[in-house]
Amino acid sequence: MKIAVVGTGYVGLVTGTCFAETGNTVTCIDIDDKKIEKLNGGTITIYEPGLEKIFLRNQREGRLKFTTSLAEGITEAKIIFLALPTPPGGDGSADLKYILGVADELGKLLNDYKVIADKSTVPVGTAEKVKAAIEKNYKGEFDVVSNPEFLREGVAVDDFMRPDRVIIGTESEKAKRLMGDLYAPFVRQGNPVIFMDERSAELTKYAANSFLATKISFMNEIARICELSGADVDMVRKGIGSDERIGKRFLFPGIGYGGSCFPKDVQALVKTSEDIHYNFKILKAVMNVNHDQKTVLVSRIKKYFNNKLEGKKIAIWGLAFKPNTDDIREAPALDIINELKKEGAVIVAFDPEAMNNVRAIKEMETILVDNQYNALKDCDALVIATEWGEFRTPDFEKMTGLMKSKVIFDGRNVFDLGQMKELGFYYESIGRKTIVPNSE
Ligand SMILES: NC(=O)c1ccc[n+]([C@@H]2O[C@H](COP(=O)([O-])OP(=O)(O)OC[C@H]3O[C@@H](n4cnc5c(N)ncnc54)[C@H](O)[C@@H]3O)[C@@H](O)[C@H]2O)c1
Repeated sequence: MKIAVVGTGYVGLVTGTCFAETGNTVTCIDIDDKKIEKLNGGTITIYEPGLEKIFLRNQREGRLKFTTSLAEGITEAKIIFLALPTPPGGDGSADLKYILGVADELGKLLNDYKVIADKSTVPVGTAEKVKAAIEKNYKGEFDVVSNPEFLREGVAVDDFMRPDRVIIGTESEKAKRLMGDLYAPFVRQGNPVIFMDERSAELTKYAANSFLATKISFMNEIARICELSGADVDMVRKGIGSDERIGKRFLFPGIGYGGSCFPKDVQALVKTSEDIHYNFKILKAVMNVNHDQKTVLVSRIKKYFNNKLEGKKIAIWGLAFKPNTDDIREAPALDIINELKKEGAVIVAFDPEAMNNVRAIKEMETILVDNQYNALKDCDALVIATEWGEFRTPDFEKMTGLMKSKVIFDGRNVFDLGQMKELGFYYESIGRKTIVPNSE
């Protein structure tokens, strides 16, 4: 099938490449001409494990093309996916200007039946708005389908190729058939394609992300209770996770959720609720807990140094909002760095993949070093902000030789408490006992 994907960011590039991988001919469109030039030159624009290999193969075999021209990109497409940004507007609601702007242009370009499938995360009722925007200029037949995307950055290719489920919101039989055919190779193991109406599909995405964010904030509060009561969150996590109704996944406490999705989607659902005169109390609490959690380590660091952070050298391991991605949108590490800098601390930071994105932020340029150990030279403390695999079993001897003080604030619980005690580190993590050297 011939496919177009409008918006070639994290979702668009993975979507386009994975559809090409199952034999479709895909044209990805973006307004960013530098991005398109790079992609056309065979350079991948995001870090996503496993993506580069299939991107290069499908490009070489002529199934994956890139253009800045919407008109050229959609001419032959049967299905046009919208993978455009939906950032928070001033009032917290999802800003639909990119989606509706493209819908408006599509209305001027369509000349035969096509499905417009919305992959962006959009509030309930957006499919109708997209339809209306197209209909302003195009009177022929077309369908607008809600097809929310559930991929996780870091494992996006796997998630896309083997989705837990595919949600398709449409009541058009013609669109159902086309979308069903397109997704058939991805659900051969029997994972469901769930057809529903557009509004339910749109809300499913927000409900999923909000539920997951709730799980995280809940565990972060349990972690606080553990700290105050002397319990160990790892034990509690294992204890509750073995109950099938709760499940083992997504129960890890940390320094708050970040990224381009959870914060904006939770906020947008709260706003949608307000618009229909409903006060979504749980989600408001989820947002508050997350706000506090993002800088929980800062208060602990301040306390450790008796509020005297001026001139203290703090090393930061991890800048991406989670491991295996270069994405730093809403990353807790950046909040921590900003707060520590305000207190006069000197920051030295390293991340395996996110450095280029951090370098693009002017005031962050100077803090970066090229490997995790160089960050530790003469530091007064280390903060672990992202649980990259390589931080889990470092060379502790080398660390000890480099650090001025053996002090670690671990926002991701990557080290074992017994090991920290044995090695003589001062070690604070989340929801677990603080290890103080030479104490019982
Ligand atoms: N990133 C994720 O993990 C993820 C997962 C599921 C859903 N989503 C949703 O998918 C949507 C896209 O997210 P993303 O992370 O891929 O965003 P992104 O910012 O990485 O990519 C968006 C792309 O759209 C391009 N663009 C903007 N206006 C355009 C226009 N008029 N024409 C063509 N291209 C245009 C931008 O240049 C950019 O390359 C959002 O609604 C997001 O909530 C994201």
